[in-house]
Amino acid sequence: MRKLQELFPVTDKIVLIGDSAVGKSQLLARFSRDEFNVDSKATIGVEFQTKTLDIDHKTVKAQVWDTAGQERYRAVTSAYYRGALGALLVYDITKRESFDHMARWLSELREHAGDSIVVMLIGNKSDLGSLRAVSTEDAKEFAQSQNVFFMETSALEATNVEPAFVSVLTEIY
Ligand code: GTP
Ligand code: MG
Repeated sequence: MRKLQELFPVTDKIVLIGDSAVGKSQLLARFSRDEFNVDSKATIGVEFQTKTLDIDHKTVKAQVWDTAGQERYRAVTSAYYRGALGALLVYDITKRESFDHMARWLSELREHAGDSIVVMLIGNKSDLGSLRAVSTEDAKEFAQSQNVFFMETSALEATNVEPAFVSVLTEIY
C-alpha cells in the first residue's frame, strides 16, 4: 500500500525569473519533461508545470511557475510570487546585461516573496563557453554577497538542470 504522503505529496511552488531569452522556459521543459526546443517562443503571461520527485525520502511535488521576461507580456506580479518557497534567478552567461539585471530581479523577488524564500542564481547556456560574457567568479561573488546559491546550467545539454531544482527543493526543508 502506498503511503498517504505519496498520494498527497506536499506541493512546493518555485518561480523562474530573469530577462527574456535567458532560457527559463527551456530549463522548465528540461526539468519537467526532459525536452528542449531550439525555437522556443517568448512566454506570454504565466505557465506552470509540475514534477513529483523524491527529496530526502519524501515525495515532493514541485510546481514550477514560468513567466515572461519581457515586461509587456508579464502577468500580475504579486500573484506570480505569492506562496513561492523557492526561486531560480536566471541569466545567460553570454549576455552581460542579463547578469547586470539580477540585482533588480532579486529586489522585486524579495519585495513580493519575503526574505525566507530559497534563491538560486543560475547562469544558463553553459554549453556556449566560447561566447561567455560573465565569469563564474563574478557570479559566485555576486551570489555570496546576496546570500543566494549559485550554479551554471545548460538546458540544451541537460547539465545541472535537475541538480539546480533539487538543491532548491532540498533547502526548502
Ligand atoms: P521569455 O519567455 O521571453 O522570458 O524567455 P525565456 O527565458 O523563457 O527563454 P527561452 O527558454 O524561450 O529560450 C530562449 C532561447 O535560448 C531559445 O532559442 C532557446 O532554445 C535558447 N536556449 C535556452 N536554454 C539554452 C541553453 O542552455 N543553451 C543554449 N545554447 N541555448 C539555450
Ligand atoms: Mg519563456
